[in-house]
Amino acid sequence: MPGAELIGREELMEIQDLFGKERVNLYRYGPGNYKTREFEAMFAEVMGVKYAHAVSSGTAAIHCALAGAGIGPGDEVIITAWTFIAPVEAISALGAIPVPVEIDETFHLDPLAVERALSSKTKAVVAIPMWAPPQMDELSALCDRHGLVLIEDAAQALGASYRGRKLGTIGQVGSFSFDAGKTLHTGEGGMVITDDRDIYDRVAEFSDHGHMHLAGLARGKDPRRAKGLNYRMSELTAAVGIAQLRKMECILERSKANKRRIKEGLADLAGLTFRSFTDEDGAQGDTLIFSLEKRELALRFEQELLARGFGTKILPEALDWHFAGVWGHLLQQYDRYRDCDLESLWPETGMKLRRSICLNIPVLMDDAAIDELVSAVRSVALNVLGA
Ligand SMILES: Cc1ncc(COP(=O)(O)O)c(C=O)c1O
Repeated sequence: MPGAELIGREELMEIQDLFGKERVNLYRYGPGNYKTREFEAMFAEVMGVKYAHAVSSGTAAIHCALAGAGIGPGDEVIITAWTFIAPVEAISALGAIPVPVEIDETFHLDPLAVERALSSKTKAVVAIPMWAPPQMDELSALCDRHGLVLIEDAAQALGASYRGRKLGTIGQVGSFSFDAGKTLHTGEGGMVITDDRDIYDRVAEFSDHGHMHLAGLARGKDPRRAKGLNYRMSELTAAVGIAQLRKMECILERSKANKRRIKEGLADLAGLTFRSFTDEDGAQGDTLIFSLEKRELALRFEQELLARGFGTKILPEALDWHFAGVWGHLLQQYDRYRDCDLESLWPETGMKLRRSICLNIPVLMDDAAIDELVSAVRSVALNVLGA
């Protein structure tokens, strides 16, 4: 929970600054307001993009990103079978069809699987970086070749990069979350970034009931060209975001250093395979994933970690919210998924996820905390694997 660990005085000072104004207005389009705009401008500068638009959550952010990219009814959108459910919900909410595909050794979109899933209705590919970069060169080239939009739902991966390029800036549009488990934490919140003026305008409109925000027009007279919802970020949230963003470098540096030391401390353990990377230096420090030989071993590993006071992050404890193979409630509305055993559609992904452990790496770890986690994992490995 990186950003959440560092919430403190600086966030309070930003809120006090907001309340110190002559006229306090927590509504982002209120007169004299500036915190949301300031947060967006800072975020765009940090990411090196032309436009950033703040919204109320990471779910809202990917919903707006998809809508801004022109995704609509009947479009097929390719995505990984391993993701938090939100982008699949957003695709579905737009009347589009989510097409999950298998993951590769890095736990991200497998370009070959994407190629196999293409159809005449495919409109976009959503890359979901899980704290590390997917095969972005291959995915970009594939999207260019087939005239598809590449969208990055980088909710989990703010601060990660791929061969020197920040994740979220490689596709035509990128989205982020600021919920309690993410690099930055604002209570709830999200951001959409792009260099494309038309996408930016459409994102801003979709997040605000379709308001076109035309200069010189009263809000009540603002016209619409497309439908939208209310996904506005409040000034209060943006105030927290500004203070959090100033802490991002420190968050990334510390969590990456912690992860490096923990991984080194476990490197010699037999029977435990760390996930591969396209660019390990570009990965965030938030998590460390390794796989065991069988699902039963992963379940025992989790139990023994819990008994020593350490949890896991998503794998395996929240797998049900991160694997398309168990989302009948959502996917079985579509003909293509109605009468089938969903789990059997993504066997590689299901197997990889069920055999894996994802350790949470906090930002605030001193030497003793790092040693404690390393020795807990080593002692569990000895019990479960005899390693
Ligand atoms: C890939 C992805 N997209 C979207 C979200 C949703 O973010 P939020 O919880 O801010 O709505 C998450 C949350 O974990 C996520 O992992």
